[in-house]
Amino acid sequence: MVETYKKYDSLFTNIKPNAIENVVIFSKNDSWEIQQHYGDVTQKETKIWQHLYSKVIDITNQFGSIEFIQGIEKLELCFNEFPNIKSISNRIKSITDWEVVTVAGFLDEYLFFELNANRRFPSTDIIRQSPRFSEKYYNSPIKNEFGYTPEPDVFHDVFGHMPFLTNQSYCNFLAEIGQLGYEILLNEKGLSQELIAHNLKRLQNFAWWTYEFGVMKNQKDNPKNNLKYQIYGAGILSSYDELMNVVNCCENKSSQSVFLPFDIEEVVITRFDYSEIQDRYFVINSMEELYQSFRNNKNLFMYEGK
Ligand SMILES: [Fe+2]
Repeated sequence: MVETYKKYDSLFTNIKPNAIENVVIFSKNDSWEIQQHYGDVTQKETKIWQHLYSKVIDITNQFGSIEFIQGIEKLELCFNEFPNIKSISNRIKSITDWEVVTVAGFLDEYLFFELNANRRFPSTDIIRQSPRFSEKYYNSPIKNEFGYTPEPDVFHDVFGHMPFLTNQSYCNFLAEIGQLGYEILLNEKGLSQELIAHNLKRLQNFAWWTYEFGVMKNQKDNPKNNLKYQIYGAGILSSYDELMNVVNCCENKSSQSVFLPFDIEEVVITRFDYSEIQDRYFVINSMEELYQSFRNNKNLFMYEGK
């Protein structure tokens, strides 16, 4: 099966045939919330965590945004320990009052936005390249590589996203996105199902090009970073391949991807391919500008078909 596009989706650019065959998407009535059995974490899984962590940590400390670098320190994420979701959640709770919920896999929009609106962030507990991961997706055409996996795994969820959950402004922004998603689904204006699906995809595009794969002008707050940009997208920060792509494109060693100025109207109608290195990155001027842009343009996510 390939992702379906409906009537209003012809307004989108960059439409990619994202394959979603056999990917299980959990809904409210499924057993989507699980417990991490930390005692069952194998040596092999810890080794994979160590491998992934050691490949990216120097690069992210150099080119990651300050929110990310400070977040790694606040959470005391380290090379040695496979993430214990409960204790990470407790640390985050004491800082920003957000919680992390361990989940079985992809969540549908209702669940995902409802969680975020209630200041809860979902995290998987399995790691790419592990037998548990392969077993779960044995029937799916999901890339399962050290450099990148489109299916969320604990390295992406914890290393890429959790550091930002220690920053209150960022957390407020995420909660507002969740709230807006929830409002789209509540549909108080009585829009058609096609328009609801279209507006949800607009919000998904926004999330993709910002907190998943966003880049920011260098804020000059990290003397180690000599590039024009710094990285705040969790999908980049948790992927060695994507990190190196951003660095190489910044240094003009590669022309694989382009850097475009952030324009929220363009961002909301730009689709993406989640199985490949991104062909573009939208560059924000600052986190504050991103937050304001979202707050000032919520109408873009309530498109009424005219
Ligand atoms: Fe993510």
